[in-house]
Amino acid sequence: MTRALDQVMAVMETAFDPHWREAWTRQQVANSLALPHTYAILVDAEARLIGDGEAEAGGFILARRAPGEEELLLIGVRPELRGRGLGRLLIETFAELARHAGAEQVFLEMRANNPAERLYRACGFEPIGRRPAYYRTLDGSFLDAITFARKL
Ligand SMILES: CC(C)(COP(=O)(O)OP(=O)(O)OC[C@H]1O[C@@H](n2cnc3c(N)ncnc32)[C@H](O)[C@@H]1OP(=O)(O)O)[C@@H](O)C(=O)NCCC(=O)NCCS
Repeated sequence: MTRALDQVMAVMETAFDPHWREAWTRQQVANSLALPHTYAILVDAEARLIGDGEAEAGGFILARRAPGEEELLLIGVRPELRGRGLGRLLIETFAELARHAGAEQVFLEMRANNPAERLYRACGFEPIGRRPAYYRTLDGSFLDAITFARKL
């Protein structure tokens, strides 16, 4: 688990603009991965799925399994590797793993103005709810959270 934590954190440090305050700290990721139903999916720079400690990660998903459904907690791809399908591969792998585990739906939540929405919609996610002023950015402004779901 420590190695997956290192792989995730190396991407985390480059992938998130601090303005949006979306990145997780090392402690948050460690706590999350220590839970029995939370897991990481990792891909390398060539868009191949990799295991714990196997190679440097180009992108990751953190996800949580629950009876009948799974939640995509966080996705990140290194900026220099974007637009090559790593994000889509991560999401499709997440959906496939969830389906095999018996999930009927998968969920995610994003800040209202995240351009990743295009990727989520392209992967079959549709908005199902909105939480007003849920996120607070570095400059103190608030953004809604939008919940997306995809039936499997
Ligand atoms: C969102 C993110 C993971 C996408 O990763 P990626 O590897 O670039 O995604 P892909 O190459 O698989 O893109 C798949 C499709 O989505 C579109 N897309 C992905 N990210 C996009 C973005 N930021 N803006 C516009 N379109 C985007 C691509 O154009 C592509 O469409 P196409 O197949 O029709 O060309 C990456 O941009 C990222 O790490 N962003 C910062 C972290 C973040 O905001 N995470 C999500 C919130 S937690």
